[in-house]
Formats: sequence, structure tokens, C-alpha cells
Amino acid sequence: MTPRTSVRLIDVADAPAIAGHLARDVKELARWEPAQPAAYYTTPGQVARVEQLLDDHRRGARWPGVIVADGEVIGQVTVSSILRGPFGKGFLGYWVAATHRNQGHMSRAVGLVLGVMVEELGLRRAEAHTRLENLASQKALRNNGFRPWGIAREHIFLDGAWRDEIFWERILGDGAPPR
Ligand SMILES: CC(C)(COP(=O)(O)OP(=O)(O)OC[C@H]1O[C@@H](n2cnc3c(N)ncnc32)[C@H](O)[C@@H]1OP(=O)(O)O)[C@@H](O)C(=O)NCCC(=O)NCCS
Repeated sequence: MTPRTSVRLIDVADAPAIAGHLARDVKELARWEPAQPAAYYTTPGQVARVEQLLDDHRRGARWPGVIVADGEVIGQVTVSSILRGPFGKGFLGYWVAATHRNQGHMSRAVGLVLGVMVEELGLRRAEAHTRLENLASQKALRNNGFRPWGIAREHIFLDGAWRDEIFWERILGDGAPPR
């Protein structure tokens, strides 16, 4: 049976589950996610982080979501760097727990968040970056109609070095003027 996937706004009560996944997967995530201080992998550290994310959400700068499968928080998907007005765009970042990969969760979660970007946030454009080697992330984007439009040289410091990244875009909505 296909596992169910949903997304919703993050909550402070999600901090223990998020800290648990990130602490367990820390070595594997190092290739794909920026290094973080030790507190990031603890429940108190995640409580503080979630509070900051929700503060950013109240200011309209982010939509921080969690991915839920059969009642369990299994990852995060966040719309960041939201620009209103003539740009009307947001940047997608995400991860899924190593225990739940390759089951279609991120492909479905990205699709659900694109819906939030259109219906709730009124955005016109979604963007994302992936390392050249991150084929799973690229596939989840391609599954949702994203197209690569360029390579940024030495774009992000990951796993001890500056890494090239592919830039991805997905046009949203019907072309109506910004609201
Ligand atoms: C990238 C990531 C979010 C994908 O999540 P997921 O739930 O496993 O993704 P999905 O199951 O929806 O899709 C993955 C696709 O990639 C494919 N894939 C997985 N590993 C692959 C590999 N090494 N090479 C080629 N394709 C691969 C899967 O077969 C699947 O393809 P399909 O849609 O044809 O079935 C997850 O691997 C992850 O959290 N990685 C670590 C953090 C990260 O990379 N974040 C993104 C930074 S840009």
C-alpha cells in the first residue's frame, strides 16, 4: 500500500521527533545539509529553532512545514526567502528521515507545498538548489515539474568544501498579476 503523506505547519511539539531524526541521520545528512552546532540535534535546540521558524512565518518570510506519514513526523519542507510583489517567489528546502526514503514521500510533499504556495501564499514561482550529486532530490523536483536552469559554481559550503549546485525553477499559478 502507498504510504499516506501530508504536510502541515510545524509546531513546537514536533521538536522531539525532528531532533531524533536529525541526530540519527547526522552523518548521512552531512553531504546534503549545512553543518550545525551540537544543540541543533537536541530537543531544546529544535524547540528554539521551531519558535524562530514560526516567528518568521508570522512575519510572512517563511512557510515552515513538517511531512507527516501515517501520523508520524518524518521530515521537513520549508518555503523560505519569500519575496512578495513583482517577484512573488519562494525557495524550497527539505529532508526526509533516512528510515522513510524512496517511498515517494518527498515527491508528494513537494506537490502539496506547491499547492500551499499558490493557494495560501499567492506565489508565482518556486525555486530550489541541489548538489549535482543529489539525484534523489533532483528526481523529487522533476516529479513536480521543476526544470534546471543553471549551475552556480561553489555556491554552498557543505561537507568541508564549497560545492557547485544546480538551480531549479517551477512556474506556478495562472499568470495573474501579483496580489
Ligand atoms: C532528497 C530526499 C528529500 C528525497 O526524499 P524521498 O522521500 O526519498 O524522495 P521520493 O521517494 O519522493 O523520490 C526519490 C526519487 O529519487 C530516486 N533515487 C533515490 N536515490 C537515487 C540515486 N542514488 N540515484 C538516482 N535516483 C535515486 C528514487 O528512485 C525516486 O525516484 P522515482 O520518483 O522515480 O521513484 C531525501 O533523500 C533526503 O532527505 N535526502 C537528504 C537531505 C537532502 O538531500 N535534502 C535536499 C537537499 S537539496
